[in-house]
Amino acid sequence: MITSPYHLQRCYALPRCRVCGSKAWVKIPWGNTWFCRTHFISYFEKKVYQTFSRYTPRIHKKLLFAVSGGKDSLAMLYSLAGKLAEEGYSLAVLFIDLGIKGYSEYARKAVEKAASDLGLSLIVVDLDKEHGFSIDELASRKSTFSFGKPICSLCGIVKRYLYNKVASDNGYDLVVTGHTLNDIYAFVMSNLTTGNLEDLVKLRPYVPGSASFVARARPLFFNYEYENRLYTLARGIDVVLQPCPHSPLQTGSLTTSFKKQLLELEKEHPGIGLMFMKNFLKKVIKSIEYSKPSQELVRCSICGMPSSSNPCSFCRIKLKLGKA
Ligand code: AMP
Ligand code: FES
Ligand code: ZN
Ligand code: ZN
Repeated sequence: MITSPYHLQRCYALPRCRVCGSKAWVKIPWGNTWFCRTHFISYFEKKVYQTFSRYTPRIHKKLLFAVSGGKDSLAMLYSLAGKLAEEGYSLAVLFIDLGIKGYSEYARKAVEKAASDLGLSLIVVDLDKEHGFSIDELASRKSTFSFGKPICSLCGIVKRYLYNKVASDNGYDLVVTGHTLNDIYAFVMSNLTTGNLEDLVKLRPYVPGSASFVARARPLFFNYEYENRLYTLARGIDVVLQPCPHSPLQTGSLTTSFKKQLLELEKEHPGIGLMFMKNFLKKVIKSIEYSKPSQELVRCSICGMPSSSNPCSFCRIKLKLGKA
């Protein structure tokens, strides 16, 4: 068989951008779509903005972006901040320095750079300086104090407490986090497995606030981590690349296993996670809401924050460490 140069060109034709037809930079596997770098950036920004504006009611004025220095929350911040500022929202960035050696220093630098690039004010909470302990310390003393939870769960308690405290102390009425489709898929599956309906119903792109808790938005609800990484690459955003040194200890956690499971599923069924999240939100969550148990809240007698227990989980950690 003779293969003409024309035939060769047809067989090996470079993929083209769906929008402008120029040489493609990236493939979005689940849509079988190619984009050049510029149009990938537009696609990404539009998607994040649409998730935010479709689900977040326009009642909020002061937004606090919780940014860890990783690819997800930085992609969220860079893609959304400009547009929301134009719309008149007042924005600030929150970084919690967890005191994790070889990790928190780099994360902090990345967040400082982002806030300065975008002209946003930055609130830094230094866990060690302000609360007398670090996550490294908690990890090293964990067995002695037998908290009975993996370090990432304890770290999660600390972070959630601080998002709410910093926002309510400073008059922010919405906390925006960079939880991704991969995170939320894993949370949904874990909560279904353990029957934790109370947390399951909170897994939405927007959770309204109450007298005690500041509202939350998750504009990356429909974003795969893969897309977020591509966006930071496309825009040359500096992110902290090393994983948290405590994360290898998490093997065996249910959410880690579900995250791995999603990656496997996506290989054979590109887009299955997106389909799952859309259907979960549109069809499943509504029927679960009826069984939502009502929970009585009390004030923590140590810090005064609302909580389901007294002392609150954050103060209990501090008490066990002898720091309350
Ligand atoms: P993670 O809890 O590490 O899965 O992160 C989920 C989201 O929580 C991130 O996308 C950020 O929005 C927020 N977050 C995590 N760590 C920090 C941190 N150290 N400071 C501020 N926000 C954070
Ligand atoms: Fe919390 Fe790693 S970031 S334990
Ligand atoms: Zn293009
Ligand atoms: Zn407390």
